Amino acid sequence: MSPSETDTPLPLAAVRTVAGLRAMVAKWRRAGETIGLVPTMGALHRGHMSLMTLAQTEVDRVVVSIFVNPTQFGPDEDLDKYPRQERSDADKLAAANVDLLFAPQVTEMYPDGFSTTVSVEGVSEGMCGGKRQGHFDGVSTVVSKLFMQCLPDVAVFGEKDYQQLQVIKRFARDLDFPIRIIGGPTEREEDGLALSSRNAYLSDEQRGIASHLPQILKGTALAIASGHVSPDLALQQGITALNAAGFDDVEYLELRDVETLVPLVSLDRPGRLLVAVHLGKTRLIDNVAVNLA
Ligand code: PAF
Repeated sequence: MSPSETDTPLPLAAVRTVAGLRAMVAKWRRAGETIGLVPTMGALHRGHMSLMTLAQTEVDRVVVSIFVNPTQFGPDEDLDKYPRQERSDADKLAAANVDLLFAPQVTEMYPDGFSTTVSVEGVSEGMCGGKRQGHFDGVSTVVSKLFMQCLPDVAVFGEKDYQQLQVIKRFARDLDFPIRIIGGPTEREEDGLALSSRNAYLSDEQRGIASHLPQILKGTALAIASGHVSPDLALQQGITALNAAGFDDVEYLELRDVETLVPLVSLDRPGRLLVAVHLGKTRLIDNVAVNLA
């Protein structure tokens, strides 16, 4: 395989086909090396790069995929607007010593006649799964394909997309993928705002409002963990605080079981507090652990 299957030379080994990916992985396997996969949709920031660093501590070779997956976007979502910046992403991957970029075209991932969907019950329902119909089917299907294409030993995903991480862990277990799924901690701006490619859409005024999100989330988690107020009251107070801070819409603020994501009415086991808010057309999500005192 040539070191690059891409049209313009990139500063690291890069392939666009499943055959190219498999050839490279097979070569490493023959040398007895272990493989890690970090699936992304590109527009790489510090949050993504921390996942690659984490993968590098676990395995010998790290593959990063960049694929803006159309099946996980709803008809009214930002598929066309989603930032595509392959060249600068490739520079970052090269600087981080990533071993291979896999950047397939849509036709490579979804050839004519493609008609299979991986769908996960329970953990994908409600929250992002409730508001973004079909979103987790799209994520589960593309990530299953990436797993089968690369067959890594480990795969790393950000905890920022916490529901996504639990959905992926669920189908990997249910379908016996021999892959260890690792969650990487959320990287944050100085004021605590979780890093996201979508933060770039915020105006200065919206960015000011956004800085309240991590504070209110943390305050609500502490109130629940203290046991002085019921989770229900703490959630209501959190929603009131988000509205007062100027968010245009509070899509959800929910306390869920840390793994199954079933709603918790009391903190009788480790919980996770998850939030989604809107500022104009931009949707921001975040989550924190809520631990028993
Ligand atoms: O989190 C993302 O960037 C995407 O949902 C993923 C996991 C790469 C699947 O397209």
